[in-house]
Amino acid sequence: RKRVRVQHLAEAKAQGRKLTMLTAYDAVVARVFDAAGVDMLLVGDSIGDNMLGHPNTIPVTVDEMIPPARAVARTAKHAFVVVDLPFGSYEDSPQHAFATAVRIMKETGADAVKLEGGRRVAAHVKLLTGSGIPVIGHLGFTPQSENILGGHRVQGRGDEAADVLCDDALALAEAGASAVVLEMVPAPVAARVTEILAIPTIGIGAGPDVDGQVLVWTDMAGMGDWSPRFAKRFAEIGAALQAAASSYVDEVTSGAFPRPEHSFES
Ligand code: KIV
Ligand code: NA
Repeated sequence: RKRVRVQHLAEAKAQGRKLTMLTAYDAVVARVFDAAGVDMLLVGDSIGDNMLGHPNTIPVTVDEMIPPARAVARTAKHAFVVVDLPFGSYEDSPQHAFATAVRIMKETGADAVKLEGGRRVAAHVKLLTGSGIPVIGHLGFTPQSENILGGHRVQGRGDEAADVLCDDALALAEAGASAVVLEMVPAPVAARVTEILAIPTIGIGAGPDVDGQVLVWTDMAGMGDWSPRFAKRFAEIGAALQAAASSYVDEVTSGAFPRPEHSFES
């Protein structure tokens, strides 16, 4: 299998082939998903709530993103690796976004960065793409703005909000973005954005009529007790891992493990 490069994203859309993306925050999981043929690995700032014990993505720093991003980028042989610019690391100005994106590209070996927002970051996207850094946009529910959005709520409902979303998506495409993530958007609105854009849309809670799908891996693998409604649990890895750990505890305690085949002779 060939390495996924930026031009393959637009090619997939033109050919009507669905793109697949999953988050990955370390080499262990990146290796598994890369071998499974996932097109894109996202080192999301969702690392905050999923791996680092933060309540949400807001506290995540660039320093926290870099080691996981480096691990994923070093491990992926096939997948296109995208790294989130965390909250507070780019909004201020195009130059601010540029400095953060350059640091991430230099220190991690990622293929692209992702940032949240529409027209308000169009100039940022233009500077980055013009400087050789592929950018993925993120519209709809944008977790870094959850405080101003008043929680995890569907975005783009109603004609006016749908128009705003379309204009933001067009602005990102015009600025040179390579794809746009649409999070928690009514399915018909996501379909409309997908139709008017030449670049691929990657949905999460955005229905089937988009060019690709993304999920947080812990949600889709069933690592926690709970997954959001839009995230199908494709396995119950959390329960399987707990069962493995409790068998280990039982066998060490009882003396059943280790056996001679696990031991070295003198
Ligand atoms: O950080 C993340 O995992 C994301 C996806 C939900 C798109 O931004
Ligand atoms: Na994110």
